Amino acid sequence: MSARRPLIAGNWKMYRTQAEAAALVTALCQRLPAQPAAEVLVLPPFTALAAVAQALASESRVALGAQNCHWAKEGAYTGEVSPWMLLDVGCTYVLAGHSERRQLFGETDALVNKRARGALAAGLKPIVCIGETLQERDAGRTLSVVASQLAGSLAGVSAEEMAHVTLAYEPVWAIGTGRNATPAQAQEVHAQVREDLGRLFGAAAALATRILYGGSVKPDNAAALLGQMDVDGALVGGASLDAAGFATICAAV
Ligand code: PGA
Repeated sequence: MSARRPLIAGNWKMYRTQAEAAALVTALCQRLPAQPAAEVLVLPPFTALAAVAQALASESRVALGAQNCHWAKEGAYTGEVSPWMLLDVGCTYVLAGHSERRQLFGETDALVNKRARGALAAGLKPIVCIGETLQERDAGRTLSVVASQLAGSLAGVSAEEMAHVTLAYEPVWAIGTGRNATPAQAQEVHAQVREDLGRLFGAAAALATRILYGGSVKPDNAAALLGQMDVDGALVGGASLDAAGFATICAAV
């Protein structure tokens, strides 16, 4: 058995003002046990990071992360946020290449790779997201699409740096649709991703790397998904905006 501690991450997307975000994370903390079995992470929008950091000031059970970052320390990059700025506000994690970034904002593997490596250089832990569209799945291309996203997004990352990288497999057709992958579908891809990781970074890194599942994870399907051998946690969107439901998912590991 590996020693991969499950990670349950709540991606709040473009929801919640500062006050709402502080209230949400406070309500979540009230519902978590003293020592959650999973590592718990929330990913509020940029504008609410400081408010959530403040609400978490004396709280060690919940980590803070952001949904995206640039790779430079600072510079003339209008509209971007530096990983050092995220560290400064209290983040330890950041998403890279969420499918909404890829689909709606044209982010390529090369760009996702820059973001992930920038995060690593700053000392942030990137959660690198990969996943196929419905069209790709129907064409039988799921495993090859995911393998090429993986290799492209992690190009130039060392086996040592992989200790700070988490992956998230999120089939695009399952995100925000209420249609989750079945546990068997998730396990099939996760096992393949771990094999690919072994080829890219060696067996030890492959065994140690956490691979989260994301896409319509809800309180009632979380346990079955998290029960799969290679599913090491969840990246939760919609259901993370409800404190009680998210706490239930955190308890499902
Ligand atoms: P969902 O989103 O849980 O609402 O499907 C998951 C995600 O986008 O990370």
